[in-house]
Order: sequence, then C-alpha cells, then structure tokens
Amino acid sequence: MVTPYKHEPFTDFSVEENRKAYQDALDYVGTQMGKEYPLIINGEKIFTDKKTTTVNPNNHSQVVGYVSKCDQELAEKAHQSAQEAFKSWSKWDPEARAAILFRAAAKIRHRKHEFSAWMTYEVGKPWVEADADTAEAIDFLEYYARQMVSLKDGVEVNSREIEHNSFSYIPLGVGITISPWNLALAIMCGTASGPVVAGNTILLKPAKTATVISYKFMEVLLESGLPDGVVNWVPGSSAEIGDYLVDHPKTRFINFTGSKATGLHIAERAAKVQPGQIWMKRVITEMGGKDTIIVDDDADLELATDAIAYSAFGFSGQKCSACSRVIAHEDVYDEMLDKVAKKAETLTVGPTNFDNSNFMGAVNDEEAFKKIMGYVEVGKQEGRLVTGGTGDDSKGYFIQPTIFADLDPEARIMQEEVFGPFVGFAKAKDFDELIDIANNTEYGLTGAVISNNRANLEKARADFHVGNLYFNRGCTAAIVGYQPFGGFNMSGTDSKAGGPDYLLHFLQPKTVTDQF
Ligand code: SER
Repeated sequence: MVTPYKHEPFTDFSVEENRKAYQDALDYVGTQMGKEYPLIINGEKIFTDKKTTTVNPNNHSQVVGYVSKCDQELAEKAHQSAQEAFKSWSKWDPEARAAILFRAAAKIRHRKHEFSAWMTYEVGKPWVEADADTAEAIDFLEYYARQMVSLKDGVEVNSREIEHNSFSYIPLGVGITISPWNLALAIMCGTASGPVVAGNTILLKPAKTATVISYKFMEVLLESGLPDGVVNWVPGSSAEIGDYLVDHPKTRFINFTGSKATGLHIAERAAKVQPGQIWMKRVITEMGGKDTIIVDDDADLELATDAIAYSAFGFSGQKCSACSRVIAHEDVYDEMLDKVAKKAETLTVGPTNFDNSNFMGAVNDEEAFKKIMGYVEVGKQEGRLVTGGTGDDSKGYFIQPTIFADLDPEARIMQEEVFGPFVGFAKAKDFDELIDIANNTEYGLTGAVISNNRANLEKARADFHVGNLYFNRGCTAAIVGYQPFGGFNMSGTDSKAGGPDYLLHFLQPKTVTDQF
C-alpha cells in the first residue's frame, strides 16, 4: 500500500548541522569537477569527440564537466532504441513502472545535498534554491508515480445488459523531452519521468548549461532499474539534433520547457506531417512569463515587500514564474517602491559555492548576462533606474538586483521577458486598472495580488488571467501536487506540471465494447 503523497520538506539552513551537511556535499562535488560524460543510448555509454563544456557561472574559469554531444546519426540510433524499448515498456504493469520512480525518489532523497550541490556549481544556485529544486524533483517522481497507479484501471463508464464497456489509458509512443537549465533538476526530472511512468519512451535533451546534473539524474534512473532504451540521454545542439528529433516521423510528442521563441518554433515544425508519419504530434510546452504582483491600496506593505523581493530576485529572477512587474495603487506606489528598493539594496550578490552568505549567485551564462544588461540600457530609456543596473562578469556573471520605476505598462521592459534580477514598477488609479495592466501582456503564467479587500481578491480570481494566481504571497514556488503549474496564452499549453491531469498529456484513452 502506497502512503499518501506529501511534498518533500525543505532544509532548514539556520540549523548548523544542515549547513555542515551542505558544505560537505559542496566539498565532495568540488572534487568531481572537470570530468567527461558520455551520451546514454539504449543503456550504452557513448563518448563523442565533440563536447559541450559546462562551467560554474559564479566562476566561469571553473569547468564543471565536458559532456559528449549527440549528432544526427546518434540521435537516429537513440530514436530507434526508444521505438524498440516502447514495445515492452508500454506493456509493463503501471505499478512496476511507478516502483522505479519511487526508487529513484528515495535515492535522490538519500543524496539530496549532493544533487543540490551540483546545481550550486553548474547553474549557480544559492543553497535554498538548489534545495527547493531537488525537493521538487523528488516530488515529481513521488507524485507522478502515484498518479499513474491511480489511472491504471481507467475510468468507469456505463455498461448495458448486452455489452460491457471499458475506458482505459494507453501510452502514446516515443517522445522528446527538451528541458531548461533553470529548474535544472526538477523540471528536467518531471518532464522526463511523467511521460515515462505513463509507458512512453523518450529521448531526453537537457539544456546545454545544465547537462551534468541531468547526467546524474540519468545515473539514478538506471540504478533504479529503468530498462535500457526507455530514456535515451542525448545532449546536443538544437540546430544539429533538436529540429531533427522534432521532425522525426516516429516522434509522437514533444515535451518542451524553455523560451517562447523555441516553443513556437517547435509547435510549427511539429505541425507539419512528414512522409511516413501517421499521427498528429502532440506538443506540450511550458514557455515564458511576464509575471505581475498587484499591490492594492490597503495592502500589507511589509508582506508585499517580502513577496516582491523574493519573487523578483530569488535565483536572480531566473524562473518563468518570477515577478518582473509590480503594479501598485497610486496611493501606495511611492511607499511600495521605496520599501522594495531598500530591501533590494540589502540583498547580497556573490558566489554561492563557498558558503550560504549570498542571497543571489551569478546569472546563468554570458548570453544571459549580456541580455539582462542590454535590458538595463533599454530600461534607462524607458523609465527611472531606482537601484541596481550594474553587473560584473570578470569572474562570474553577477548582476545587482535592478528596479526601474514610473514605467508605461506598454514599455518593452514591461512586456518582454528579461529572465534576470530585474523588475519594473507602474501605477494605477483603482483596482480595475490594476487588473487591466496586469493582463496586458501576451503571457499568462503567474500573478499575485496583495490586498486585504476580499471583493477585490474575488475580482482578481475571475479577471486576472494567469494559470497560477496567488493571494497575499509571492508568485513563485509552486509545489507539486499543491499548486499545479502552467500558464495561459504565450506561456504555453497550460499543461499543469505537478497536477492531476498532467499524465493525460502522454496517454490516449481507449474504449472497448464487449457485446454479448
Ligand atoms: N514551478 C516554478 C515556480 O513556481 C517555476 O518553474 O516557481
């Protein structure tokens, strides 16, 4: 009998023993830098000549790992191995498939700080953020395993005296999981393990700056008894293998998390039927966000300050859920701006792989650094720089928490996803206008309302058009099984990761009528 699902607790780093355990994990992972990693195709480890080098964003001269790159020929081999493995994996008892996820969750839990420490090195995560990422990965495994068990007998439909009807779920086939670098373990694990526990086989193409952590996850899957060929690990460039795999006539679905531009590119390519293709590909996307926190005229401004600061600057704003816009009622606008700016100025930025003293680490890589600093220049044209706006990439890619004020809601920095420690403020005269401005982007992922006015909160419930809406808290940190996560409009297909319907994206229902 499986225990009911509950989410993995976070580590309390105010406890000396926990800090010591994390420090030990960092020391251990520090000794593992600079190794070479192979592809994994049908369980076989294949080293290639071309490599991706991943580095520590806090210290870009430190190499985390050299990861083999998959080319088209190997991608084809991986696809064929997934096709072959599907024949048996799709017929496995769902409970046995689930058991592999439970085992993987237990193994990751057992080595929790080690996994988190890898993310501190490879994606620059502060300890609390890395710890939350690992906890979320465990949650996805635990949650989707249970969900598959609950779906295994299908859903009861009506029968008649002359017939018995059944309605059950079968897997789709071979899918491509393309995962992001920001929730480096959690989203990669969730978007791979969901389709797999549902009986599909996949090719997993991790983000290029977060490949070693993904390899570590692959090791756990294989140690947990996952048969060869069920997950084929194929890091590689989008140009070389991404399009090839999306176009492949035997690809049945693509499960993508990343930018809007790439998501739309995938959707467009996947819509074209290739010679030999006998289905419409399913495309599941989790794309960007331009997420707003609304501050009402009667809001608790202390609460709002903490909610905004954490949502905007936690993990340097590198979450699709991050707050990048604050729309405040004109009566509290100045005070709100002042409080958040003062708070931002207390947030420390620096390396996270030595100790737990810095609130923010470096941003992901040179590309991210340049993009964010480019938006600082745009912001200077469009509004008033209140704090931050400076960066230093001499050793790591560090950017200070940045706030722009007095913005036109249509300004570029209020509309385009910056994906950095960067937030813009605008004001509105009443609650209707607060909601109108909050809704005026092409995205619809997360949002929050800080208000003590129940009527206004209920208005937001109806009219604030986002997939994840929060009242009187920040707009990040959804928990698997508690806040199913996904957004509207250009934020993607609203597939609600960590929600009760998630696995249905990777299953097709079959009705059988047995007439007597
Ligand atoms: N699920 C994460 C959050 O809610 C973002 O991917 O912050």
